Amino acid sequence: MNNRSDTSSTLVRLDEYRAPAWRVSQVELTFDLGIDTTEVTSRLHLQRDPAQDAPLRLDGEGLELLSISLDGQALDERAWRYVDNVLEVDDARDGSVLETRVCLRPAANTALEGLYLSGPRERGFLLTQCEAEGFRHITFFPDRPDVLASYKVTLCADRDRFPVLLAGGNPDGHGELEGGRHWARFVDPHPKPSYLFALVAGRLQKIERDYVTSSGRAVKLVIWAEPDAIGQCGYAMDALERSMRWDEDTYGREYDLDVFHVVATHDFNMGAMENKGLNIFNAKYLLADPDSSTDDEYRAVEAVVAHEYFHNWSGNRVTCRDWFQLSLKEGLTVFREQQFSADMNSSALKRIEDVALLRRAQFPEDAGPLAHPVRPAQYSEINNFYTATVYEKGSELVRMVAGRLGREGFRRGMDRYFARNDGRAATLEDFLGALGDANGIDLMPYLAWYAQAGTPRLSARGHYDAAHRTYTLTLSQHTPPTPHQSHKQPLPIPVKLGLFDRAGGMLPLHLTADSAETSGATERVVVLDRAEQVFVFQQVNDAPVPSLLRGFSAPVILECTYEPADLALLLRHDPDGFNRWEAGQQLAARAYDNLREGDGTGALDAWCEALEALFNDSAMDEALLADLLTPPGEIELAERERQVDPSHVHALRQQLQEQLALRIGQQALQRRYEALVSHTSVQLDARSQARRRLKRRVLELLARIDPWTAHAQATLQYDNAPSMTDRLAALSVLVRGNASQAHAALAHFRERYADNPLAMDKWFSVQTQLPGELVIERVHALEGDAAFTLKNPNRVNSLFGAWARNNPDGFHRTDGSGYQLLAERLTQLDALNPQIAARMATAFNGWQRLEPSRRALARTAIESVAAHVGLSRNLNEIVQSMLHG
Ligand code: BES
Ligand code: ZN
Repeated sequence: MNNRSDTSSTLVRLDEYRAPAWRVSQVELTFDLGIDTTEVTSRLHLQRDPAQDAPLRLDGEGLELLSISLDGQALDERAWRYVDNVLEVDDARDGSVLETRVCLRPAANTALEGLYLSGPRERGFLLTQCEAEGFRHITFFPDRPDVLASYKVTLCADRDRFPVLLAGGNPDGHGELEGGRHWARFVDPHPKPSYLFALVAGRLQKIERDYVTSSGRAVKLVIWAEPDAIGQCGYAMDALERSMRWDEDTYGREYDLDVFHVVATHDFNMGAMENKGLNIFNAKYLLADPDSSTDDEYRAVEAVVAHEYFHNWSGNRVTCRDWFQLSLKEGLTVFREQQFSADMNSSALKRIEDVALLRRAQFPEDAGPLAHPVRPAQYSEINNFYTATVYEKGSELVRMVAGRLGREGFRRGMDRYFARNDGRAATLEDFLGALGDANGIDLMPYLAWYAQAGTPRLSARGHYDAAHRTYTLTLSQHTPPTPHQSHKQPLPIPVKLGLFDRAGGMLPLHLTADSAETSGATERVVVLDRAEQVFVFQQVNDAPVPSLLRGFSAPVILECTYEPADLALLLRHDPDGFNRWEAGQQLAARAYDNLREGDGTGALDAWCEALEALFNDSAMDEALLADLLTPPGEIELAERERQVDPSHVHALRQQLQEQLALRIGQQALQRRYEALVSHTSVQLDARSQARRRLKRRVLELLARIDPWTAHAQATLQYDNAPSMTDRLAALSVLVRGNASQAHAALAHFRERYADNPLAMDKWFSVQTQLPGELVIERVHALEGDAAFTLKNPNRVNSLFGAWARNNPDGFHRTDGSGYQLLAERLTQLDALNPQIAARMATAFNGWQRLEPSRRALARTAIESVAAHVGLSRNLNEIVQSMLHG
């Protein structure tokens, strides 16, 4: 296999960026498609940078070169060399045309990068995945995002086997060939980097919709899937139309081709891919129907469809100069998707979901051996840098800047950014520069956020002076060291804040430095841009309760000496749903500390009491209530520990929920559950979703204090569930409670969904949530199930990913058996699919903070992976960082 670490372990560095010595203005590609072998003929129209004097060097990995000619002349063997994944060609000139013919083996490609086969060979289809560096697995090319070319692509194949032929761009003719073969051509008028190239060929069915952009351009929207799944594409089509309209309304951005194709595949390393004019989706983010998709999955489909569509501007029309700028497209597009989803659904719930994700996925990354800046300074394998830091923290950085500019200012800045950089490969400096220039503001101080790893700690101290009626707030910041970055500088931290009086009302704010116009608002942003700063509020009549970092105005950890009673007040009274949730999370974390330290029950009582009141408040939004009733997850709670014992964290969190359930009371929970059951529907409107969400939460709380009744109810709910949301919720309660009824329900589910891969993934993953001591045995049994395969990324994630990430108690067994099992599978997986293996290996993140005996066992397991011969560059980079920071 290619890509093995012994062949190339060199680092790519941001500060070594050089513009390409050779560019390509036009690419003509002809594919002779076959499952076992495909021939690719490429004609590259070359342009030399007159300022540089370097030979023509093209990337190419694992390519079988059949022929090569320059300007129509077949090349002598001495005029080129293909060594270490680089093809070097002598005597190329500016304006030369290089023609190569290579042979690919799609059916043998298990890495799912480049051209590969999805599904069984008899009825599967061919497709490509090029980001980040997959195009070099298809043909020789300067495979870097700053080489933009126009593409003319001709696909030739057997008509019966491959009736549908697709590539990015506009259709440009099709016809018959001899021997039952046919061809189709596509021309993309917009110059693009090679990572946005795509083709699809096979027996697919479609649904179509006509769309007209606000300026009147007619676009044909087409979603393609295998015949058994085409009935599940309607929701994605609606979501696509909503996304297109939203980007026109919000950013004035229209689609720019005559057709927009979207394809679903079950064999995909990532979630989805924004190839120009031909988006390709992991089926789990495209297909949806009530019988097999949960509410969360519906929302994920909407979000991912939107994300990939939004890339058409933030990523495709304006692309990245190099992969260090990845967050330029990903962080920005995640932010745009978050805005869209907030507009389509509830903005408070969306913010809660995103901040919870940031804390669960990004904060631990920033606190461990894999910590890296949003714009990393170097990498060995770029695929390892599609991380929560680049995506989620990257989005938070855009959010901070957007907040600084305000809605109109941000739109003005984005207009400037698109206008200046359309058709270019840009940098983060270009982004901040355009946004700042359009608003007369210097945003360059925010670059420090992109360069510095680690989560800043923000401390706040308040002091009320009754004699002067002033409230003095002292804010300070500190970022702990991260691997390779021991010295940290202060960052600009926007802190949105308000002050509450003791009755829960918001006070008008009079900051000493304020002008008359800004004075008196009840909420405002102060920016801390030094190590420490003092803010003095005037005319404060009584000691206030501060509400800090409202809306999570910066991705920091707030270390605040709130009193439990203050948090309880915010939890009860803050008019903003997100801030309310946030106060509840802080309070729950303090309650957790109470349980752990056995140092009183002040926070625990305050938390339970406030939630009991909200539970019984009929005006309370049901979805928000469900979230309020959910304490921080085990991963987040573990971040509070010096030495982590995951089983102990799990037990304490269970106790926390038990205390809450006892406080609300078995009867009240029971009544609420029954009321919610009586409203059962399959509708997707917000109210129906909210009820299902709360119903699940109430049933889970009931299971903590009265498992026998809860399991009987869960069984009934499973049997009568009209939707997957209710069915899976019930199944999960049975499995987690190790209920006697779980066995029959699982057997029923297995049988009913045997032919539905996405539902089967849920069948695997729900069982990884068995109580800790039982789960390893089950994981072993599930590996032996006929439906399990290491070759399918979704299936691997649904078993090993769900187990190692979502069941810490079940993964971190005290005998190290969990670590050992994962380590063994990682090396097996690596031989098939290095990207998936590397991502799975990050489940070991945080191992250095485990208590000593688990830590030693984890180290041994990671070292056993590292000692393996012939590891991919992907997995090697992760385990090396994991061991040596
Ligand atoms: N461009 C990425 C997909 C990608 C990432 C391809 C890495 C190859 C290597 C795409 O736009 C993306 O970000 N997809 C996300 C889902 C998204 C909604 C956050 C993904 O695949 O996880
Ligand atoms: Zn993306």
